[in-house]
Amino acid sequence: MTKRLYIQDVATRDGFQIEPAFVPTEDKIALIDRLAETGLAKIEVTSFTSPKAIPNLRDAEAVMRGIHRVPGVDYTVLVPNVKGCERALACEVDEINLVMSASDTHGLANLRMTPEQSLEQFKAILEVTRGSEVFVNASLSTAFGCPFEGEVPEPRVHELVQRLLDIGVQGVTLCDTTGMADPAQVERLCREVLERHPQVVFTAHFHNTRGMGLANALAALNAGIDRFDASLGGLGGCPYAPGASGNICTEDLVHMFQRMGLDTGVDLDRLLACAASLPELVGHEIPGAILKAGKAARRYPRPAWMDATA
Ligand code: COA
Ligand code: ZN
Repeated sequence: MTKRLYIQDVATRDGFQIEPAFVPTEDKIALIDRLAETGLAKIEVTSFTSPKAIPNLRDAEAVMRGIHRVPGVDYTVLVPNVKGCERALACEVDEINLVMSASDTHGLANLRMTPEQSLEQFKAILEVTRGSEVFVNASLSTAFGCPFEGEVPEPRVHELVQRLLDIGVQGVTLCDTTGMADPAQVERLCREVLERHPQVVFTAHFHNTRGMGLANALAALNAGIDRFDASLGGLGGCPYAPGASGNICTEDLVHMFQRMGLDTGVDLDRLLACAASLPELVGHEIPGAILKAGKAARRYPRPAWMDATA
């Protein structure tokens, strides 16, 4: 039996947070509702962050309350602190995705918190979520390298993963925030976390900043990862990580996995139709390759001269 992969779209969060223009609330809702019909396992709808820090997602409540919830799709939101958690729970999200950084400098730049301070916030958040059914995931930014500090030692990443699990987090996402990871590093780190914590749900989150995004996804797959964050059209990036650019592109990732004969559960044509609406929505071209090139199954007519009769 083909192993099932889980594709999680983050375009309306990781993507829209860094767009130059605010995407109107009703357009966000319409896009999320269309994405929910494509077979994606999870959608990261928005973030409950400070509207001063992330003005593009200041309509988080309206979006979360405005969408039509499709059974079988998990709706998650990014949350940095207790206030964000309370806002998220009030909207009855399926999951909260806690965000912290593996490096002090990016943590302070992005969240005004060191990893230690984030862990303290998370303990308080887990007090708030206790007794509720919400799934608590944590995303570890800069797990493969920090744009300020450079290398993040692998033992430090393992230590932070362990501490997240110790306080009660149920799933962990390893994030390559600015596309610094290479496939050998990804395979090593992913193998090691899966070996140490076989019962835990791990997700890989790559940005294609240096063109290594799909190679890294493949490396993670080879290590045993079955959950991938990706962004429709390849939008994305952290506004507080210098040099950040788009996530791996969801339709490119699904196309690659399908070509390899893997089961993503996603209807690629429906996904491409969603991607086709993006350039107008955001007002610029999008990085994704398959929308431009067509699927590998695309065929062109032979040059006319070959069929010309003498
Ligand atoms: N939702 C809404 N407002 C929030 C909030 C939340 N989750 N957390 C804090 N605020 C508000 C406070 O109420 C306060 O408002 P006021 O100025 O009107 O009194 C203001 O934000 C500052 O609060 P404070 O707790 O001092 O936060 P801070 O200035 O230290 O910033 C964060 C910390 C985490 C709130 C902020 O850095 C943030 O939202 N970062 C998100 C970054 C992000 O999403 N990056 C991209 C994803 S990787
Ligand atoms: Zn990201």
